[in-house]
Amino acid sequence: MVILLIKNKIKMAVLDQLTSQEAIDLENKYGAHNYHPLPVVLNRGEGVYVWDVEGKKYYDFLSAYSAVNQGHCHPKIVDAMTKQAQTLSLTSRAFYNDVLGKYEKFASEYFNFDKLLPMNTGAEAVETALKICRKWAYEVKGIAENKAEIIVCENNFHGRTTTIISFSNDPVARKNFGPYTDGFIKIEYDNLQALESALENNKNVAGFLVEPIQGEAGVYVPTDGYLSQAKALCEKHNVLFIADEVQTGIARTGQLLAVNHENVKPDVLILGKALSGGAYPVSAVLADDAIMNVIKPGNHGSTFGGNPIAAAVAIAALEVVRDEDLANNAETLGQLFRSELSKFIETSTIANLVRGKGLLNAVVINDDEDSDTAWNICMALRDNGLLAKPTHGNIIRFAPPLVITKEQLLDCVSIITKTLKEFEV
Ligand SMILES: Cc1ncc(COP(=O)(O)O)c(C=O)c1O
Repeated sequence: MVILLIKNKIKMAVLDQLTSQEAIDLENKYGAHNYHPLPVVLNRGEGVYVWDVEGKKYYDFLSAYSAVNQGHCHPKIVDAMTKQAQTLSLTSRAFYNDVLGKYEKFASEYFNFDKLLPMNTGAEAVETALKICRKWAYEVKGIAENKAEIIVCENNFHGRTTTIISFSNDPVARKNFGPYTDGFIKIEYDNLQALESALENNKNVAGFLVEPIQGEAGVYVPTDGYLSQAKALCEKHNVLFIADEVQTGIARTGQLLAVNHENVKPDVLILGKALSGGAYPVSAVLADDAIMNVIKPGNHGSTFGGNPIAAAVAIAALEVVRDEDLANNAETLGQLFRSELSKFIETSTIANLVRGKGLLNAVVINDDEDSDTAWNICMALRDNGLLAKPTHGNIIRFAPPLVITKEQLLDCVSIITKTLKEFEV
């Protein structure tokens, strides 16, 4: 028995000091292969920096897909999380807790809605929004049972559940996961005419689900006026405008919400990721009473949704965004990033273009979509101390934590341009 305990202790000690290769081997052997990570093993983060297990420091230019807008391990968020974890972590919604209501009031007022429905992940929040939209269609709009349709956009990314991949057009996400969920009409993104004719030709449309910028697809920014005119078309046809701001929201694009660039108030707002600053899985759907009140006890829920830790963390995370003026920082430094990269691209043979809003940007690499050049550039960026990843094929997304300073950003621009130069032909 004693020997066994000692042996286990030795094993644990070994596990505690993994090299990068050992950590990678463990994930490969014991983890499902549902991701293709860049080979770097991180074990610490602070602000805009992360460190690998060998102690090398990197700028994080992915920010956990825009979850870590407030920077890694923000002390205020960690403090709120730790205090709440030591007090009460979870009761489920079978009982009330004394933090959820405070959070719901705080976040509803913060985003200017009547009510919030708390969930955990982005995909769950999208599912929640789709359910709310359908129920609203039957009970308020008066669409016949099971006939509601929701318009979505080509090349969307809204998560990975069976219903969500049903309206994806990414073959890797879809193939062999059928049968799919019905009730979706797919139109071209950034095409108002397509939206108008879909609305005019289908009397059972309940909602239009849209990303204000298509992040995963490669940071596609729609034409100015697209969102506001799409919202007007939805209003005309009594259709809910549902904004998926899981990636674009919470200061990332230089405004609190990306729809704010066009003064649009969505009927249904979907948030996730940075709602916790990356500290904890927290997502939410917000809407006004006329819509949210269709949800009654038993219609929807989640054991962890609205738990006290999530509620405390989300309040702190939103306070940080406001108190540190992160939207303005994203706007100013985003412009600087694009103008510096544009200067470089003018004479570059490897980079074609930089696009984005705020600190959600992408550089398009001058090679075929199925080439591995973008991946190789990301490997070289890693070697040069900056972590980023291709979104699709030849597109590299650059999305640092929004707490980045001007000096740090310029340092990163020089790492990126120096690395790109290594690939000039
Ligand atoms: C726009 C958008 N919606 C939904 C999701 C899904 O969020 P999650 O991965 O937390 O389920 C993502 C994730 O990247 C996203 O970018």
